[in-house]
Amino acid sequence: MERYAELQAGFLWERARTELAGLPHGRGLNIAYEAVDRHCHEGRGAQVAIRWHPKRDDPIDLSFDDLARGSSRFANALAELGHVGGHGVATLAGRTPELYLAALGTLKSGGVFTPLFAAFGPDPVAMRLDLGRIAVLVTTANHYRRKVLSKRSELPFLRHVLLIDGGAGEFDDPTVLDLEPAMAAAADRFEIGPTDPEDRALLHFTSGTTGTPKGVIHVHEAVVAHAATGRIVLDFGPDDTFWCTADPGWVTGTSYGIVSPLVNGVRSIVDEAEFDAERWYRILQDERVDVFYTAPTALRMLQRAGADLAATFDLSSLRLVASVGEPLDPESLAWAQDVFDVPVLDTWWQTETGGIMIANYLTEPVRPGSMGRPLPGITAGLLKLDADGAVELDERGEPIEIEAAGDIGELALESGWPSMFRGYLDQEDRYQRSFAGRWYRTGDLARFDEDGYWWFVGRNDDLIKSAGHLIGPFEVESALTEHPAVVEAGVIGKPDPTIGAVIKAFVVLTGDYEPTDELRRKLIGHARKRLGPAVAPREIDFVTDLPHTRSGKIMRRLLKARELGLDEGDLSTLEAPIAGQSSGEETVGRSR
Ligand code: PRX
Repeated sequence: MERYAELQAGFLWERARTELAGLPHGRGLNIAYEAVDRHCHEGRGAQVAIRWHPKRDDPIDLSFDDLARGSSRFANALAELGHVGGHGVATLAGRTPELYLAALGTLKSGGVFTPLFAAFGPDPVAMRLDLGRIAVLVTTANHYRRKVLSKRSELPFLRHVLLIDGGAGEFDDPTVLDLEPAMAAAADRFEIGPTDPEDRALLHFTSGTTGTPKGVIHVHEAVVAHAATGRIVLDFGPDDTFWCTADPGWVTGTSYGIVSPLVNGVRSIVDEAEFDAERWYRILQDERVDVFYTAPTALRMLQRAGADLAATFDLSSLRLVASVGEPLDPESLAWAQDVFDVPVLDTWWQTETGGIMIANYLTEPVRPGSMGRPLPGITAGLLKLDADGAVELDERGEPIEIEAAGDIGELALESGWPSMFRGYLDQEDRYQRSFAGRWYRTGDLARFDEDGYWWFVGRNDDLIKSAGHLIGPFEVESALTEHPAVVEAGVIGKPDPTIGAVIKAFVVLTGDYEPTDELRRKLIGHARKRLGPAVAPREIDFVTDLPHTRSGKIMRRLLKARELGLDEGDLSTLEAPIAGQSSGEETVGRSR
């Protein structure tokens, strides 16, 4: 592997682009072609692409040929139903082969793929199907019955529902079909139409602090970054077995759970089951996994299961472990390095960046606690913020960059890399607001040291990071206020050593309800039903009122300061020290 300095000096995105095949006859660039069909055309079709571990049964291998044929069948089945070009296809399903075939088949057919997290409850699902104008939903009968059916009339864009596990008969609805016969009836060859690199390919939803989630748009060109970052950071080689533990419902599970390993021709593990320490160690051992990409939360959960358990497995096949999603604290890093006996590399990126932007590298010394250094081809900058958390501008109207090591500012990336998002769906203003001059503003606070290593400080907004996933307080607050007992709710992330933050709600009750433990349990149950367990609050406090700014916004930062026992006048030790100091708006209201 080349050293960082050499890589940086010789790197050009244009050159990275030439490593890809492009569609035959100059018909453009398509992610699915690079991920599967190309390998078949180049004689690697029989190689194992995905080794799928079902929850209970023995693993099943899917070759590149299998993926090529299956995804073609899916694309043809879509065409048969009249979906040709630009159509939105979502999955709401566990990690089963159909999800992967649907993703690749959608991309082949010129559609836009949206993976939804199967643990979402009906509210987040309906909102995303609606916002994404999803025309086809691939799901199971159970998910459909529990989460979509009662809202179907509010989803005018949804034209077809394809059930992975069959059972469409139950719904007596001509738009609800069984997937398997539809695929079986379709041809297993599909010619991918001309695909412009700027054509939309993926739509991922990420949380916002207020209002609706943001639909983050990625185009086919993103595959250039998926391919290159897999090689540069995850060190993919042709004989590797790779395991990315993330669900495709989150961006990591798509960029690095589907696209990057397939494009690089490595064998990928897909595990249908949820976290289980012993199962994970067994998979790492039995599958002789070389490269393991996971989250700090997962590493901490493995740590909690004890070093004794780890010691009973042979993990000697591993060459590198990488993590993403939240800060990898030095203690977890040291533990993982010890147990796996390989370098453990923190990587930083976001839904909006589409791929890894800042990372540690196998060839370079790791600084515990640092996210590492920008990828070749990526320029990171640190923007100076004023007391309101806004970017400070110089007299020419350009953002002021922080030059001094150690100072805190907002992490920004010079725009123009291939996997940069191309928009927030239907929110052009919001998209424009996330840029300042030539910089994309990440919303993260950070600093760098003398040697150019970057250190994460916190978020510059109220978004909550729990178990590696961004959660918008507004969605949780809305679900709570749907309950007749609740007048108003304010939601914060409360620091937690294992999952980063647990979701805590402060709730104001209507006069008719008493603040009892039973009501607390009921509200948590209500939220879990609406939102799903990953997003619902774990703790609820009853308060008489919530603190507001004069403009009426709930001051979540203040709620958090009080919760953590910090001085309310000095919020400097909150996650977002700069923006948190003062919103410039007086507090009104009072909380108990
Ligand atoms: O705050 C940063 C945190 O996760 C945010 C992005 O979340 P999401 O769009 O859901 O994508 C997660 C997976 C790519 C970032 O703005 N984050 C991500 N990686 C790190 C991190 N925080 C600290 N250290 C990291 N390595």
